[in-house]
Amino acid sequence: MSTLGELNQEVARCLLCEIAKYRTNTVPGEGAEDAEIMFIGEAPGWHEDQQGRPFVGPAGHYLDQLLASIGLTRRQVFIANVIKCRPPNNRDPLPTEIQNCQKWLDCQIEIIKPRMIATLGRYSMARFFPGKSISKIHGTAVRQDNTIYFAMYHPAAALHQQSLRQAIEADMKKIPAVLAETKSVPEAESGPQQLSMF
Ligand code: URA
Repeated sequence: MSTLGELNQEVARCLLCEIAKYRTNTVPGEGAEDAEIMFIGEAPGWHEDQQGRPFVGPAGHYLDQLLASIGLTRRQVFIANVIKCRPPNNRDPLPTEIQNCQKWLDCQIEIIKPRMIATLGRYSMARFFPGKSISKIHGTAVRQDNTIYFAMYHPAAALHQQSLRQAIEADMKKIPAVLAETKSVPEAESGPQQLSMF
């Protein structure tokens, strides 16, 4: 698969999980094909399933505001999810669903080659920071193989909890400095590199 358009068509035909039966639309993700930052959430909700677009409900409107706080619009970044179909009643994604869907996310990362992957919430964090706790690592950046991984709370959780809201807003504002730091600090020769400032 060489383009996002081709990938989106394949995702639309995917029947690997039971939940494919219940979807209105697949929600592969959207944004700039050459985005510097890729945000990865959990799974589509009702609004996303209806429209086939990621983060278009209340959590999405909040994500738009967070992006605006660092001078970005959703068109300048890429927004995806760990799984591409809505779990019924917005239940948590199952391990088999995450596994089945992993190839689509891997292809998206391969095509976009973002400088930074920002994880939104626990499911996305678990993929890139296995075994870590979000309350400990949110707002911290690790660089490995020329990609920066940055963990954030999920905007839906932050919307309803004041302490998380302050944290996600502060974490979002660190992103420009993290990107700037990594332009000036050479990459470690091997292994993950915790970025010093964060
Ligand atoms: N929550 C997510 O994790 N993803 C969406 O696309 C919408 C809400």
